[in-house]
Amino acid sequence: MPGVGPRTRVLDIGCGTGAQTLVLADSSPSRIVAVDNHPPFIDALNREARRLGITDRLEARVADMRSLDFADGSFDLIWCEGAIYIMGVEAGLRDWRRLLRRNGHVALTEVCWRKPAPPAECAAFWKREYPAIRDTSALLEAVEGCGYETVAHFPLPASAWWDDFYRPLQDNVAAFRKRHRDAPDAQALADQCQHEIDIWRACSDFYGYDFLVLRVR
Ligand SMILES: C[S@@+](CC[C@H](N)C(=O)[O-])C[C@H]1O[C@@H](n2cnc3c(N)ncnc32)[C@H](O)[C@@H]1O
Repeated sequence: MPGVGPRTRVLDIGCGTGAQTLVLADSSPSRIVAVDNHPPFIDALNREARRLGITDRLEARVADMRSLDFADGSFDLIWCEGAIYIMGVEAGLRDWRRLLRRNGHVALTEVCWRKPAPPAECAAFWKREYPAIRDTSALLEAVEGCGYETVAHFPLPASAWWDDFYRPLQDNVAAFRKRHRDAPDAQALADQCQHEIDIWRACSDFYGYDFLVLRVR
């Protein structure tokens, strides 16, 4: 990764079990702190860091992205894949700005409309689940309004969503239904997941993730 050295400090927010954290650690000598509010994910990532012998430069911590208590200017790069939606893009970018050093960068992904006039079922799904969804130009305008300039942006391929998320989710939904055959709550949750997968299968031309690289202005 050009421009990233052993003194570069990275904060990975909403890291999950560290899919992207481990790629970052493997592709650069930077020092990474990864945070998530789900302790089992953090335990799994710290176990993996120990197994790989990289605990000197990768540390995972339980923390809420809404109240990160790092000192101002602690990081050169904030990475947030598939997680800023939890706070909302504007709230996250405004809140986390103080954590960045001068000329600090943010890399994030956010779901965007790819074309107008989605089918009614798709529009209703997003209105209910994430009404803040917008198209790329509206997203770029919003991030610039939060005090960042856009260095680069590109759409992620549909395969990123299907291969790494919906396909495993689909397998888990089927197994989950069998395990909780007699639990109506569990079946309702499985229905919700299935509905989301079905919407994606039918309408994935209409929305997808954008990847943005931003610099503090
Ligand atoms: C869709 S997952 C993305 C995980 C990972 N970045 C990836 O792309 O595989 C969102 C993550 O945000 C975490 N999360 C949810 N609310 C959070 C919060 N308030 N603070 C920190 N992490 C949170 C979840 O536990 C989950 O791991």
